[in-house]
Amino acid sequence: MITIKDLKKDAEITAIIKTGEKQIDALAYTEHSVRHDSIVATWTAMILRETGADERLIRLGEIAGYLHDIGNALSRHNHAQSGALLAYNLLVNRGMDYADAAEIMMAIGNHDETHGVPVSVLSSALIIADKSDVHKSRVKKKIFKKSMNIHDRVNLAVNRSYIEIDNEQKIIYTIIETDPKICSVSDYFEIYHKRMFMCKNAAELLGYNYGLIINDLRVL
Ligand SMILES: [Fe+2]
Repeated sequence: MITIKDLKKDAEITAIIKTGEKQIDALAYTEHSVRHDSIVATWTAMILRETGADERLIRLGEIAGYLHDIGNALSRHNHAQSGALLAYNLLVNRGMDYADAAEIMMAIGNHDETHGVPVSVLSSALIIADKSDVHKSRVKKKIFKKSMNIHDRVNLAVNRSYIEIDNEQKIIYTIIETDPKICSVSDYFEIYHKRMFMCKNAAELLGYNYGLIINDLRVL
């Protein structure tokens, strides 16, 4: 049984993830490194556990989270689809059951808001985990400038982001603490409204509502 621990020690997978980081650096995008992959792996597994998934799906979710951005090594363009195919082959070559690898392929192929849709429990958990990782440490340029692009400005303003699940009320929350001197809440909505609705649809597939809380302002 393949686990995320095996993948973290795997030379081929590490080389591909590192190449993806190089491409993201060249494009001057926010950080998409092992840090982001590991957080998304942990949060995907946590969402699945809290919403009642079985151990098999939790393990697959952790792996999907770790590999979800592996397509960045080919191109940022359509990275979800290229990454899905890459992950399927890497996992089957390491002995993963075809159906389990296909489940991960489908989730990775649907994690990006450009073409993705929550289509399964696993893909829904992955979408919420991925979209909730907004943090100042993901911005490469550390000095705040008014001329910065809005993605960098919004990320740089975020001191903390995390997920909380209220199982009584059946709500999955993304909670974000920002510095209002760096970006306004409307800046956040300008770039993330598509992602928020994707998370809302993902939560609904899991049988939950979705809530976004920014500095105590509850949005959805
Ligand atoms: Fe991601």
